Amino acid sequence: MTDFFDVVLSQRAYRKFTDEPVPDEVVSRVLTAATHAPSAENTQPWAFIVIRDPELRARIGELTQRAWEGGGREFSEPRLTPAMLADVHQGALGGVSAAPVLVVVCGDTSHCVPAVLEASVWPAVQNLLLAATASGLGSALTTLATRFGEELRDVLALPPHVRALAVVPLGYPAKKLGPPKRLPLSDRAHRERYGNPW
Ligand SMILES: Cc1cc2nc3c(=O)[nH]c(=O)nc-3n(C[C@H](O)[C@H](O)[C@H](O)COP(=O)(O)O)c2cc1C
Repeated sequence: MTDFFDVVLSQRAYRKFTDEPVPDEVVSRVLTAATHAPSAENTQPWAFIVIRDPELRARIGELTQRAWEGGGREFSEPRLTPAMLADVHQGALGGVSAAPVLVVVCGDTSHCVPAVLEASVWPAVQNLLLAATASGLGSALTTLATRFGEELRDVLALPPHVRALAVVPLGYPAKKLGPPKRLPLSDRAHRERYGNPW
């Protein structure tokens, strides 16, 4: 069995993939992990749309590009390092939608009260990302395309009570990324009261 800490400490945002197909069994296993996440009142208010169709992926890619070029880039640029800007840029301009599989993760308001809908879906997305890493797949949590929620609704035939929250590409990495850069725990953890060092 893959060590959990090897997986969680190496999970990264992948935005470049090979064309190698991802078998349905692998996608099913990854999504099964997603469905084992916690949710408010165990309502499990998620829906996963698995997209392989190149035309549909291209349409989602167009929305992503439009969101990036129509304000996303300008909004993020002042805070991103040049390397991260370049990564997100190539992802938004086709890297993400070129993944052999896109999983559009949705929240279903008919299963869950609005106040905790999103908080009930993000743990499933994290499980999905970790399961993808454990399966040797690259993945990334992306939200740019959801800026055009109504267009996504049309493209995916989402009913009114189902809202797209994220687009997660799945594919075999074009190049393996190094370990994630994260702050030391002592920068973010406190003992007993805020400000007391861990
Ligand atoms: C709420 C959220 C939204 C994100 N949206 C996007 C996005 O639209 N496009 C993208 O390329 N990456 C997106 N990301 C991925 C982040 O850029 C990435 O997780 C972060 O830079 C850490 O990357 P690393 O794990 O490779 O170090 C998003 C991540 C989160 C948590």
